[in-house]
Amino acid sequence: MSLRSGARVEDALERLGHDVVGVDVGGDLVARLREVRPDVAFIALHGRDGEDGTVQELLEIAGIPYTGSGVSACIRCADKVLAKHLMRDAGLPTPDFYAFNETAFRELGAAEALPAIEDRLAFPIVVKPASQGSALGIKFAATPGDVPAALVAAFSYDRKVLLERHVAGRDLAVSIVDGEALPVVEAVPHEEDFYDFAARYTIGRTTYACPAALTDDETASAQALALDVWSLFGCRGFARVDLMRDDETGALCVLEVNAVPGLTETSLLPMAADAAGMGYDEFVARVVELALSAPSTA
Ligand SMILES: Nc1ncnc2c1ncn2[C@@H]1O[C@H](COP(=O)(O)OP(=O)(O)O)[C@@H](O)[C@H]1O
Ligand SMILES: [Mg+2]
Repeated sequence: MSLRSGARVEDALERLGHDVVGVDVGGDLVARLREVRPDVAFIALHGRDGEDGTVQELLEIAGIPYTGSGVSACIRCADKVLAKHLMRDAGLPTPDFYAFNETAFRELGAAEALPAIEDRLAFPIVVKPASQGSALGIKFAATPGDVPAALVAAFSYDRKVLLERHVAGRDLAVSIVDGEALPVVEAVPHEEDFYDFAARYTIGRTTYACPAALTDDETASAQALALDVWSLFGCRGFARVDLMRDDETGALCVLEVNAVPGLTETSLLPMAADAAGMGYDEFVARVVELALSAPSTA
């Protein structure tokens, strides 16, 4: 969960003239919601419960309108394996992958299948947990010898993991607000860190370019692809779609969709909104309006 996003959102809501009550996620969440009875809940926490539909489900039951996507879209976004299957079935590009749960390794001898997977995906292979975010538990395995440790690391975050084809290319993010794609943001790693995954995700070692240096056609393609995924998953309010652009072919593919992306001042969505001329407070106001006009799914 993100306290920093929450604080930033709280400030904006106050500037917009709302009475704001911060509610932390914990064992007393349902009781607190009953007590506070907000007109609308602004969900600003990412990570497991805030993003996977759990908090959304509790808000549905309480009859409290909330920001962002509904329960089913959150579930589709939070599980990378499910999301990738949906995209592949719909013909939307996402890197090739194989996914397993712990049982496959513990009880079905899935380790025996690793050489065949490695042949098909080729090295390096990206190993990641099905859930989580912020690159937690993600490892690039350069050789067959690296795969077991990468799997163990990923399994420490989730009971389900995926092995994914590595895309040598640029890291792009398309944020969407109310079905409208914002300027593309590119994460540009320091040259010396390019092949060092850990360094790439160390604060301050990646810079962000917005709008990304792409041709107009490429920008339009990235935005169109992000909107296709947004529609496929049934997202609402706002979201951020993480893409890769293959250096060799220029092809775009989707890594994941974040139903509750970071909302700090340095987060990618606020950066993209700013580039589109939408200030932070305006963004927050729009998201609240959308929440209030969203149909309840309960
Ligand atoms: N298949 C891949 N090929 C190349 N880089 C990848 C791949 N998968 C993930 N990455 C790198 O790891 C980052 C995080 O991966 P992502 O799937 O978006 O998970 P998270 O939920 O942690 O953000 C990406 O932004 C990208 O830089
Ligand atoms: Mg991501």
